[in-house]
Amino acid sequence: MAALPHCSIAAVDNDPVLLAIGRPICPRSIEFIDTDVTHEGWADRAGIRADTLDAVVTSATLHYLSPLRLAHLYALLATRLRRGGLLLNADRLADADPDVNSAMERARAGHQAREIASSDPDWAAWWRAVADEPRFDRLLAERGRRGLTGTTHRVTRQAHQRLLQQSGFSTSGVVWSRGDDQILVAIR
Ligand SMILES: C[S@@+](CC[C@H](N)C(=O)[O-])C[C@H]1O[C@@H](n2cnc3c(N)ncnc32)[C@H](O)[C@@H]1O
Repeated sequence: MAALPHCSIAAVDNDPVLLAIGRPICPRSIEFIDTDVTHEGWADRAGIRADTLDAVVTSATLHYLSPLRLAHLYALLATRLRRGGLLLNADRLADADPDVNSAMERARAGHQAREIASSDPDWAAWWRAVADEPRFDRLLAERGRRGLTGTTHRVTRQAHQRLLQQSGFSTSGVVWSRGDDQILVAIR
């Protein structure tokens, strides 16, 4: 934000707990939008107009979307990004080639074993710690009402790139990777 003081940023998520944790620690100028990106019309309701976005960044999220929902989202984002705009997807992406895939998984696992302390909480342990905090009781109940189970879908990097191309992105490629943890960029 310091490098781009005039840009406007919106953070989109549908988890009331994570939104409540994120809001107070982010600059006040960031707009928080509580919405499910698989619901029809969410971008219109959020006031995101055609050809207006410079970049969309998504992190550790798109694996929750089935290929069909991913295709719908990519097609929608292609209409909202301006020509030349970027979609950056940081996620754990499988490779269509099983041998390459297992080599990439091993590379990431090796990195994790070296860099991440075994005492650091994983995602499940992190949620247990949140559940121990009474101030999150109401939001956790709302999260439960929304049924946010987080089913993971295995969509290969190659399948992502095909869907992006079919959705109107001109090109895509990996700009960073550590094993199968990758950042895939697509240019509108
Ligand atoms: C593993 S967390 C990652 C959170 C954050 N993006 C990050 O990188 O730290 C996955 C996030 O995806 C959000 N998410 C999953 N499906 C979603 C959907 N259909 N619409 C909006 N957000 C979704 C979840 O609520 C959760 O916050």
